[in-house]
Amino acid sequence: MTMVEPNRKGQGRSPGITYQQLLDTDSHPVPEVLRWQSWSFIDDTDVPVSRYTSREFHELEKEKLWKRVWQMACREDDVPNVGDTCVYDICDMSILVVRSAPDTIQAFWNVCLHRGRILREEDANVTELRCAFHGFCWNLNGSLKQVPCEWDFPHVEERKDEFQLPEVKVGLWGGFVFINMDPNCESFESFLGNLPWHFKDWDLANRAKTVHVARIFPANWKAVQEAFMEAYHVVATHPQLLAGFGDSNSQYDWEGNFSRAISPNGTPSPHLNWVPTEQEMFDAMSDRRLDEDPFVVIPEGMTARDVSAAGSREMWRPIVGDRVDRMADAEFNEAIYYTLFPNLHPWGAFNRICYRFRPYGDRHDMSIMECMYLTPYNPEEGKPAAVPIHWLGEDSDWTEATELGNLARVFNQDTFNLPKVQRGLKSMQKPGVTLANYQETKIRHFHWLLSKWIDRP
Ligand code: FES
Ligand SMILES: [Fe+2]
Repeated sequence: MTMVEPNRKGQGRSPGITYQQLLDTDSHPVPEVLRWQSWSFIDDTDVPVSRYTSREFHELEKEKLWKRVWQMACREDDVPNVGDTCVYDICDMSILVVRSAPDTIQAFWNVCLHRGRILREEDANVTELRCAFHGFCWNLNGSLKQVPCEWDFPHVEERKDEFQLPEVKVGLWGGFVFINMDPNCESFESFLGNLPWHFKDWDLANRAKTVHVARIFPANWKAVQEAFMEAYHVVATHPQLLAGFGDSNSQYDWEGNFSRAISPNGTPSPHLNWVPTEQEMFDAMSDRRLDEDPFVVIPEGMTARDVSAAGSREMWRPIVGDRVDRMADAEFNEAIYYTLFPNLHPWGAFNRICYRFRPYGDRHDMSIMECMYLTPYNPEEGKPAAVPIHWLGEDSDWTEATELGNLARVFNQDTFNLPKVQRGLKSMQKPGVTLANYQETKIRHFHWLLSKWIDRP
């Protein structure tokens, strides 16, 4: 075994073309954001297994993380009209997001101040926030509106301030509504850091939520999330992609509270012991079955990347116009997947994918994975309304959500392992899981931040 000098840790890289070298071959100018590189070694110690398996750690996350961190509650489009409400549940906490005026979104602790019933359980358009138990009622801005049998509550009248629904902070970015339960939290802008710059040309705000699928898993939320934060698993989990996917030539970066991976398509995996043709690369990218004709025959002198990008340009042109001609092939071909700590995963360019992961109810060993498609639309045709969540149970198959298209089968490959990971972790005798220095950068960055949150007084 070769020993690595400490200051060289994490400097190892896969054979094959680097991502930056691949960008040099682009037929169009490459945006600055894809040239941006920000990587340094964090740590190579094991991540304690108890982070995934212990109730105590879950309780710590509740107190130190979820009650203090900025987190995505919904899309602005989930509450487009005055009176629209959206319930955001995290562990045993419930927050109600309300569009209280045309330009105002507020968020309240979703609890009746009479005897503590959850105020609202379902997303709906309402004119007031009325508790179903005895009918205490609040205005949309959280002020107390009515107490049934007011004559019996002179003490409420005396303490009216205390009967304003307690509010939590709201931050808006990229069409997302974030909330923070900590009144002393850092500003939303400082939490986001440089992330808005990354998305300045890939405007997530002007997107329609056209797909929203949620699935329940018998695994800790972090174990599920981490299956979507690296390309290292592709060789074993999605071998059908390798002919056209530069899995271990992916680039990983991190800064502040976010991290990013870029996995190139239309370049062969360094794991292959044969050299695929451009056609074979394209067929792998386009998910061609062995008994199907190629989706497109690659013309002489063209590459899989050229043809795939050209096809995507024409697909998006009617929607976003001729700006597609100023976009790089890389923006159409690559998987560019960001993670904003702790649990939001928007993809870059026009890739529509956005994930969110969180505990299922107050369970430390079950979680919810959500996949949204945030779709560019033609403003002249109007914005499609946001779709509601399509829930899949623990025993469902992603292909039940036909709206996911081809991705459903890839998800099935991804999520096949997860219940087995949770079972394995419970039985694991080694006290920690071990991460790759480079390819598992995003997971390392996440746990490094998580440690900071958990260790805060
Ligand atoms: S608990 Fe809500 S009105 Fe009584
Ligand atoms: Fe995967």
